[in-house]
Amino acid sequence: MADPAPTLRPSTIAVTAARPPHEPDQPLNHPVTLASTYVAGGDREYGRYANPSWTAFEEALGALEGGRALAFSSGLAAVSTLLDLVGLEQTVVAPRHAYNGSIMQLADLEARGRVKARLVDVTDQQALVAACDDAALVWLETPTNPALEVVDLPPVIEAAHAAGAYVVVDNTFATPLLQRPLDVDADLVVHSATKFLAGHSDVVMGAVVTRSDELFDVLKKRRDLIGNSPGPFEAWLALRGLRTLPVRLDRAQANAKELVTRLSSHPEVSAVRYPGFGAVVAIELTRGGMAADVLTHTTSLWVHATSLGGVESTFERRRRWKTEPDTIPDSLVRMSVGIEDVEDLWDDLVQALDALGSATG
Ligand SMILES: Cc1ncc(COP(=O)(O)O)c(C=O)c1O
Repeated sequence: MADPAPTLRPSTIAVTAARPPHEPDQPLNHPVTLASTYVAGGDREYGRYANPSWTAFEEALGALEGGRALAFSSGLAAVSTLLDLVGLEQTVVAPRHAYNGSIMQLADLEARGRVKARLVDVTDQQALVAACDDAALVWLETPTNPALEVVDLPPVIEAAHAAGAYVVVDNTFATPLLQRPLDVDADLVVHSATKFLAGHSDVVMGAVVTRSDELFDVLKKRRDLIGNSPGPFEAWLALRGLRTLPVRLDRAQANAKELVTRLSSHPEVSAVRYPGFGAVVAIELTRGGMAADVLTHTTSLWVHATSLGGVESTFERRRRWKTEPDTIPDSLVRMSVGIEDVEDLWDDLVQALDALGSATG
């Protein structure tokens, strides 16, 4: 007998989740709902509490991650709402090379006596597990931005739970198509939806996903109180982007793998960091930081820009940001590989790399 509710595969979920019902005259897509208030007596009431355009995005992302999602006005708005779960002077463990904005939030909370931050080198699995000992929150980001270090999640989650800590995984780089942290018992997933989920460099948004109704309710209440939710149009754009995530990621990842192979044997490149999946690559340059700056200014397709996960290829020397830790090599260039033709991407890169010798002397 046919399974009455067959489990759909992620590419199908991305396209079909959270659609209006298949009934005559229904639109195929939820429209953008521009409303600050609703007729009283229902569940929505006010625009800070609910919006159908958020809900559609949340249902689709929740279905992909395997939990219940909440949309936020940015990735960092979601991060701050999660860090707010930590009680006064409790310990947060986090990767020393996690996204710089998350680390800066943690440093700011620590400077004001709110929490204790313990930054760890996540490539040392033993040290990471040991660091969970008295933590209240274990913050993981895998792969890390921009060092592209990968955490083996299950043993760390087990150690964190043994200590009574919540585990958050920033899944921005892997997306639910390459890694589903809730399946290995993480409590919460956080996204900068600005990146791969929305995918077109035209919206800033964040999201949190959890299987815990208790955590969901706490976070929803915080969002209701603070008002750090997205605009309806942002949520609509992010859902529109999410529909094509599987094909975008497939193509960008295939491009990334090809470029990694070619970059690895280029004499101007001293190291290539790539976790083996995804569409973010980091290279280090043989001639150092100055060469990295020259590289990012001598291409025509590759755009010198921060952020990542868009359809277009972008790159930047991360240490141009004064807040990036000095354990990130000065010459490290983070590359967000897009969906252009890989031969064009390579031609553009290789002419700039080949010219570095004469450009930097
Ligand atoms: C891994 C990661 N997490 C969180 C964020 C913050 O997200 P947003 O810029 O949407 O606030 C970023 C932004 O670059 C990121 O790369």
